[in-house]
Amino acid sequence: MNTEGKHIFVCASFRANGSPQGTCDKKGGPALVQYLQEELSDRGLDDVLVSTTSCLKVCDRGPAMVIYPDATWYGGIESEDDIDAILDCLEKGEVDQDHLIS
Ligand code: FES
Repeated sequence: MNTEGKHIFVCASFRANGSPQGTCDKKGGPALVQYLQEELSDRGLDDVLVSTTSCLKVCDRGPAMVIYPDATWYGGIESEDDIDAILDCLEKGEVDQDHLIS
């Protein structure tokens, strides 16, 4: 799978008012960013960019991320297994239906 140009935006839960304690943060989402970056490296997916963002406005479905340019939105990302499932699909050019926010 060609992942060139893929960019993963992970909600880091901070709000415009500076509050760091959004829903995704409380559920541990931002803590998985390091694992996400390590796993991308381990898989040789060095062309995939990762950035953290402020609230993605899907708090009730968080922890959340969105992958561009496809605009594929994922939620309920609470473990390394969830990251693995999403990356498995990304490598295959598929969408992880279990975490997809439709
Ligand atoms: S706090 Fe993550 S989507 Fe709002």
